[in-house]
Amino acid sequence: MTRTPARPFRSRDWFAAPGRSDMAALYLERFMNYGTTPEELRSGRPIIGIAQSGSDLSPCNRIHLDLARRVRDGIRDAGGVPIEFPTHPIFENCRRPTAALDRNLAYLGLVEILNGYPIDAVVLTTGCDKTTPSAIMAASTVDIPAIVLSGGPMLDGWHEGELVGSGTVIWRSRRKLAAGEITEEEFLQRACDSAPSAGHCNTMGTASTMNSVAEALGLSLPGCAMIPAPYRERGQMAYATGRRIVEMAYEDLRPSRILTRESFLNAIRAVSALGGSSNAQPHIVAMARHAGVELHESDWMAFGYDIPLLVDVQPAGRFLGERFHRAGGVPAVLWELLQAGKLDADCLTVTGKPLGDGLREASDREVIRPYADPLKERAGFLVLKGNLFDFAIMKTSVISDAFQQRFIRDGVMEARAIVFDGSDDYHHRINDPALDIDENCILVIRGSGVIGWPGSAEVVNMQPPDALIQRGIQWLPTLGDGRQSGTSDSPSILNASPESAAGGGLAWLRTGDMIRIDFNAGTCNALVDADEIARRTAEAPPPIPADNTPWEELFREKTGQLGAGGVLDFAIKYRGTSKKTPRH
Ligand code: FES
Ligand code: MG
Repeated sequence: MTRTPARPFRSRDWFAAPGRSDMAALYLERFMNYGTTPEELRSGRPIIGIAQSGSDLSPCNRIHLDLARRVRDGIRDAGGVPIEFPTHPIFENCRRPTAALDRNLAYLGLVEILNGYPIDAVVLTTGCDKTTPSAIMAASTVDIPAIVLSGGPMLDGWHEGELVGSGTVIWRSRRKLAAGEITEEEFLQRACDSAPSAGHCNTMGTASTMNSVAEALGLSLPGCAMIPAPYRERGQMAYATGRRIVEMAYEDLRPSRILTRESFLNAIRAVSALGGSSNAQPHIVAMARHAGVELHESDWMAFGYDIPLLVDVQPAGRFLGERFHRAGGVPAVLWELLQAGKLDADCLTVTGKPLGDGLREASDREVIRPYADPLKERAGFLVLKGNLFDFAIMKTSVISDAFQQRFIRDGVMEARAIVFDGSDDYHHRINDPALDIDENCILVIRGSGVIGWPGSAEVVNMQPPDALIQRGIQWLPTLGDGRQSGTSDSPSILNASPESAAGGGLAWLRTGDMIRIDFNAGTCNALVDADEIARRTAEAPPPIPADNTPWEELFREKTGQLGAGGVLDFAIKYRGTSKKTPRH
């Protein structure tokens, strides 16, 4: 049976342009090398790209090197022609000066591939933090049918009978090391034990959060996000994803039909219920802006803040990805939101059906709590503003009772600022007794934003001085214009925009200034009078390092602030480039 696509496949223009057999022959010549026959490429079947994000440089996504075989099987069985190609590698932990430089670079690269080659639809293989948003941003710009296949988290990590989650174990073990409770060797063993298999971080860090967000947006098949990488089901999901993208190519089911304001509001609510990463804020804003969807800073409070924490997974909770998957995963969390009237179930998904159709009730109530009996009320991001910045967020799901009691009185926190210029300065000076850091201090880091770092670094979750930790003070309030790891359990005020390097108020802040945060009013101000602020603003701003690579220079020139998603601002006007086939 020959099927007719809803819109002619764009690959026809390469391989079957009328009267241009010379051109078609040229294209076919080298594809033939690989073994794809002219019959296939000229058969009228859709050519399905597999955007391969796994490599030895991207170990969190390395499982995709195996999964791609199952994706190909699905594509072929459904009548498509698979073409696999690499994306720019992104490895969160290893990339210097920060992996955040690469989200926009991978985005640019993928746009050019999807736009410039004969690809009719694409499977986006995702995993490690920024691999998910960069791929979705690119699919939105080009706007060809696209489906997200996450690689899945690692198996749960165990160390001496205790669950140890990737990333989170590092932050927790650093405090134990500083307190003298464990040795360096034990520290390394805990880290190894937290990563027992292939897959991305098994905590609700940025990787699990962003893959869950992709599912909540309707961009992956139901249940895809949290299947652990080594599970049998993961391969089956890869096969089903391959099959489905071929149908999507025929249906011309593009991201622009799926990504709407309603679907993004669903994602914002889901992040709160999941206890998701603070990095979800810039990534969701970035994806929305590339999709042409308007989100407002106030949306985080209006739609996300009141949503309770339902998922008991580290860092906000106790368990890890494997257990969360068995409890029902993302479909069960969305089901809870739906029962509470907090989900738009009509949003279209890659299945061609509404989001509500793919949901199911949780099977393990210890891990996924009922909406009426949550782990914590109001678990969304708190949005703050004041004289130090126009926008910053605080992840409330990780504010512990102990932190609340120690630092917050009647919804207000006042603390003496200790200011660091970037993380080198922090590491050099944090244990300097001359700083006189005590439990009435707030640690502030600047020069760690998009322009300052460059890229925006995950450094705001600063640890108190060793002496304080040894006295049992595990936490101090922290504030900064950088980000922090999604696996961190630090209740920091972060993503402050504009950053100090872009003229934000943190530039004039001085060690010793008092900072007042009013949680009810959503304000954060340094108690410094206007004349003094004016005097300091006239002084030279804090220094930032010079560019080290061409991309760093271009990135600094073109990238906006975290509050606005940290996107290449000029790029968002390009949308639906696939409507026009590139000239030959
Ligand atoms: Fe890659 Fe966490 S470091 S997923
Ligand atoms: Mg990270």
